Amino acid sequence: MLAGMMRVMLGTVLFALMAAAAFPQSAALPDEQIWSEFEQWVAALKPLPPGQSVPIQKRYVESQVAAGVPAEEAARRYERMNTIRWDSTDRMRTYWDGAFKSGAGPSNPLRLLQETITGMKPGKALDSGMGSGRNAIYLASIGWDVTGYDMSKEALRAAQESAAAAGVKLTTKEAKHDTFDFGEDQWDLIVCSYNALNPHDKQWPPVFLRALRRGGIAVFQGTGAGQPPSLPRLLDNWKGFHVLRIEDVDAGVITDEWRPSLRRRTVRLVIRKE
Ligand SMILES: C[S@@+](CC[C@H](N)C(=O)[O-])C[C@H]1O[C@@H](n2cnc3c(N)ncnc32)[C@H](O)[C@@H]1O
Repeated sequence: MLAGMMRVMLGTVLFALMAAAAFPQSAALPDEQIWSEFEQWVAALKPLPPGQSVPIQKRYVESQVAAGVPAEEAARRYERMNTIRWDSTDRMRTYWDGAFKSGAGPSNPLRLLQETITGMKPGKALDSGMGSGRNAIYLASIGWDVTGYDMSKEALRAAQESAAAAGVKLTTKEAKHDTFDFGEDQWDLIVCSYNALNPHDKQWPPVFLRALRRGGIAVFQGTGAGQPPSLPRLLDNWKGFHVLRIEDVDAGVITDEWRPSLRRRTVRLVIRKE
């Protein structure tokens, strides 16, 4: 009886060892390993040709499955990566490098931007967290002198490629929001489109007050950076400016202008330096 049980146990252990040897990729990787493999994968990833786009999730999961990872574990690894990328801006930059190598983002400019600048004389514009440059290219194509910055090298590469294809010139700089020098009396327009620069944050009004020229405008649109509905707080934060437009639109009412397949809460703010 005891010998029979031992045989069954031994058989189970042997089977588990053989399965692990046959499918070493099936192991549920811990987060740190998922992240370091993701980083290596992004570094080796080939940028898609201009105009082409494949969701980064699809490319990642397919590459994992091709390397022998079961589909369920590959999907789980993507979900973990998609969660832990929020842990730091460096992680987020790696994610955006992968996304822009995969052709992320729409090419049409923000409606709020188009509506805001109608009738304005073109001047000097800054596109902050510019991504692949849809807003910068639009502005340059109608006569604005445009500088854009982003922390993702791949965003800047994609922006310059699209600018060349559109026959416009952009000045681009690699920087994070916290390291970019916004300067003094520099800009007639600053664009913050889905760029994770939080307009509720108290650090920004003094920076924008210094950087904008008199009469200069800043346009913000995003998903509210995880903040609860807070128009009074936003108004209070920007009280040194003339607020031209402020909206906090519930999810479900509006089509997202970064991921049009989603209907997310959208915060819009347009301010002018008097
Ligand atoms: C959703 S995309 C939007 C891109 C572009 N503004 C648009 O609307 O098409 C977010 C962009 O913000 C950039 N970004 C996020 N956090 C940043 C930071 N702290 N400093 C600089 N760029 C940042 C990302 O690299 C990415 O290009």
